Amino acid sequence: MSERKAMAAASSVSQTPGGCGQTESPKEGGLPERRDLPIGVLDSGVGGISVLREMVRLMPGEDFLFYGDAAYAPYGTKTRQQVCERTLACVEEMMQTGIKALVVACNTATSAAIEVLREKYDRQIPVVGIEPALKPAVSGGRNGGGKPTVLVMATPGTVAGEKWKALTRQYEGKAKILSLPCPGLMEYVERGILEGDELNRFLRDLLGELPRSGVDAVVLGCTHYPFVRHELEKIFSSETRILDGSEGTARQLLRRLKKRELLRMDPSHEGQVTFTGSGEAREDFCRMLLEWEP
Ligand code: DGL
Repeated sequence: MSERKAMAAASSVSQTPGGCGQTESPKEGGLPERRDLPIGVLDSGVGGISVLREMVRLMPGEDFLFYGDAAYAPYGTKTRQQVCERTLACVEEMMQTGIKALVVACNTATSAAIEVLREKYDRQIPVVGIEPALKPAVSGGRNGGGKPTVLVMATPGTVAGEKWKALTRQYEGKAKILSLPCPGLMEYVERGILEGDELNRFLRDLLGELPRSGVDAVVLGCTHYPFVRHELEKIFSSETRILDGSEGTARQLLRRLKKRELLRMDPSHEGQVTFTGSGEAREDFCRMLLEWEP
């Protein structure tokens, strides 16, 4: 990606309760030049940059507003209600700034709040969520034939959620699915620890008695985890496929923007990424993650 400007700006977050569970829709209203507004991308911290990276690759002419709710992270160990309220507060703030689409680049927030968000905003702007990439993991099959073994790593909140239960039910007969809640893992990424012995020990402890060999696919069901991929590759066999939902989410966003005729029209425009959120500004770190190669 050529010289993309990434600006970091700390901003305060509205404490207004988000009205989780409310179904009221805002009035429809045409914003001038909607196509030229940025795409809003939300996560509890820097993890969603793994999804942002794919979207920038696919749509280099688009502007993005990335919101990291770091002051309220982690989401994965909070209740569904708490995550839902925070998600709505952040989205409301992004809506005030002006966005033409919303991507919830957080599996935990998608699990807790996507229905409420769609109900509230989808008539105004496309709303896209992310979920663990179980489908490609299962359809990749088993090395040597038979039902594949798929290990899904996600936050405690995602694994406990109804959405995850419904998703696993769809694939139960076709694969052996092992779910591994990973409390504490996102914090490594937030601290910038993406490799090394300490992380390796933490990951091995998390895995405990779970098998390392004979796992056909590992699904990274939290958007922070692609950034520790190199360390996971050291733990699993080279035959194990490691998958995440970022590419699928980026393609889904592109489809939704096309459908609503919201893609920018000016081919000469060089897309920009603006970083904002509830925590302290960390522009250099965010830019580094945006350029990070898996
Ligand atoms: N990145 C978030 C996800 O995809 C969660 C991290 C957290 O706040 O626990 O689930």
